[in-house]
Amino acid sequence: MKIIHLITAARPNMMKIAPLWHAFNQSGFLKPVLVHTGQHYDANMSDIFLQQLGLPVPDVQFNVGGGSHNFQHAKVIEKYDALCEEQSPDLTLVVGDVNATASCALAAKKRLLPVAHMEAGLRSFDRTMPEEINRLVTDSIADIHWAPSPIEMELLARENIRGPHVRMVGNIMIDALVKMLPAIEADATCQSMSLAKGSFAVATMHRPVNVDDETQLGKIVDALLWMAKELKVVFPVHPRTRQKLQATKLLDKLEKNSNIHLLEPLGYVQFINLVMNARCVVTDSGGIQEETSYLGVPCLTLRESTERPVTVSLGTNQLVKLDDVQKVLPGVLSAQTKPANIPLWDGKTAGRVCEHLKEFFGL
Ligand code: UD1
Repeated sequence: MKIIHLITAARPNMMKIAPLWHAFNQSGFLKPVLVHTGQHYDANMSDIFLQQLGLPVPDVQFNVGGGSHNFQHAKVIEKYDALCEEQSPDLTLVVGDVNATASCALAAKKRLLPVAHMEAGLRSFDRTMPEEINRLVTDSIADIHWAPSPIEMELLARENIRGPHVRMVGNIMIDALVKMLPAIEADATCQSMSLAKGSFAVATMHRPVNVDDETQLGKIVDALLWMAKELKVVFPVHPRTRQKLQATKLLDKLEKNSNIHLLEPLGYVQFINLVMNARCVVTDSGGIQEETSYLGVPCLTLRESTERPVTVSLGTNQLVKLDDVQKVLPGVLSAQTKPANIPLWDGKTAGRVCEHLKEFFGL
């Protein structure tokens, strides 16, 4: 059995790790070891995702908690280095672009262990984003690169990252979505909030560039208040955003509006139940741009750049400046969007990964 360390740290890692863990566990030749760094630690940012996605209690937990990015990197490198020394896995598998992705890739490579990066080749070309630095660091040292679509293969080639272990395997998040769809469709979140299909927008916001600056956050609040004149806005609030809204008193403005429903962060099933029934989504997340494309729900991404350009070229997602929300919303509300059909975003990515690993290990 080949021992694979599957690294998870934050909420958006869970739906990428889950399909891999299940496929490896059933493969007969791969033994997944789930390593949780603890960057996200609240029950509704971590435990609920593990439970809903059928993952076990992590085999190893570092409990690093919050802190500055460099604090997180340093702690995770120190702890993961010790784990590598103790267990010497056959492969370290990192996903996405959170801090632990880069930290664990680096620690493993310093111990000459092979590293695989799931979601390789994504680039926003904005080096002020911590995630862009994490993506660049990880891709530059990984041994295996798994890209979701042809654009990322092209971007990797431009950085001279090529060879037999650079592969387009599809979108692993869509594996989780496909598997969970029956539970998501059966879920009663919309019903319990009396939200009719297509009658509301879902909002999520957590990027430092959007929420850490009071002026910027004020513009977001104004955009949501403006949207709330047209339709209900359901807003599960990320802990970082809640802290900032509270500190700036902007929370009051949102709470006073009867068309805005502020919620605590939701589990995966509940959140996607809202998204699939929404008229549109307004977000600054990465993964939600892809989930909405797959589901055919119009997405307004309040960012200047995206590392997921395929969602824009498909027409399901558009990048919108904060001042332009009023301008684009009427078009979004009248548009008809269809679920996007992207090759290899088919729920079978984890299976392709297993096949590749068989080859990689010469089995
Ligand atoms: C991280 C990822 C980001 C991802 C996001 C999803 C990096 C660089 N960023 O950003 O790519 O889109 O997760 O959520 O890795 N907090 C809690 N409870 C928790 C988790 C966080 O209270 O369970 C607080 C932290 O203490 C901190 C703030 O929320 O004050 C931000 O958390 P942090 O993990 O640093 O970054 P995210 O903004 O979540």
